[in-house]
Amino acid sequence: MNTLITKIKELKQRHNALILAHYYEHGDIQDLADCVGDSLYLAQQGQKAENPVVLLAGVVFMAETVKILSPEKTVLVPDLDAGCSLVHHSPAEEYRKWRQKHPDAICVTYVNSSAAVKALSDVIVTSSNAEKIIRAIPEERTILFGPDQNLGRYLAKKTGRPMELWPGACEVHVLFSARKIFELKTLHPEARVLAHPECEDAVLKEAHVIGSTSRLLEEVKNSPAKEFIVATEPGILHQMKKARPDAKLFEAPAEGSCACNECPYMKLNTLEKIAHSLETLSPSISISPVLAEKAKIPLERMMRLTQGEVVSWPSHYVEFNL
Ligand code: 13P
Ligand code: SF4
Repeated sequence: MNTLITKIKELKQRHNALILAHYYEHGDIQDLADCVGDSLYLAQQGQKAENPVVLLAGVVFMAETVKILSPEKTVLVPDLDAGCSLVHHSPAEEYRKWRQKHPDAICVTYVNSSAAVKALSDVIVTSSNAEKIIRAIPEERTILFGPDQNLGRYLAKKTGRPMELWPGACEVHVLFSARKIFELKTLHPEARVLAHPECEDAVLKEAHVIGSTSRLLEEVKNSPAKEFIVATEPGILHQMKKARPDAKLFEAPAEGSCACNECPYMKLNTLEKIAHSLETLSPSISISPVLAEKAKIPLERMMRLTQGEVVSWPSHYVEFNL
């Protein structure tokens, strides 16, 4: 076995650590992880784990979610620069001003956000539970949705609930070309087109299935189709190929000639960095206890709604100074 993998396994055992990896990670990291999944699954696994150390091979907001839900755990990331364009597009002070303008609204925030932005929100959603959670919001309440406007627009259409949208987007998913996907579909008329809801509306209109990374993988596993055009980060193809070695998988093309649909943040993680992080127990996520307590409220509301529980909703926004 590769010596680096042997070393990681020894370090993992020494610290009783759990390794969680997102579907967009390099294949060798996915193969090494204890659990591989979408944002919701990783948050759930991180929360319920009994391990004192959790290493999250994904992006920093995912590790922050685990830390907020389980502050007693040491939560490691291989690279602290593994950010997310949606986090970069939603500075907390601007988000707060937006909230202040709509004090009676319910603020629904995508999990791809900073801890500070979560603390300003009423409920968090991921792409796999968002529809269910939006449908649980009382009809008479106005909804603010941020920071991904493409996911918000898709959800507003799907649920029939109008929403005020924050103007953020994923720099990776906006690059897919609806025109080129259309051309690929004409070459492969039997192919199922799978798209993540962070893609722009024109791309979603070409899709047969729209959903979270786990939903798209499930479609490849269960569909009788033999060809798929995949409009999300290509890391997911690692699991898709394993599940359906008989199927033809096409990466949805981007506009221009660039191969730029890899998430530059997810791809910062490497086996070397994972070994270093487990050896030094750093970098680790640190969030002030006051901020973590506040951010935990909308995250726990999300977890309860995901389980189908009934929750109470705040009647209006209460100012929270970061
Ligand atoms: P999922 O929750 O669907 O895995 O999506 C996370 C993400 O960052 C998509 O870009
Ligand atoms: Fe963020 Fe987009 Fe990367 Fe997902 S793919 S982590 S939304 S930058």
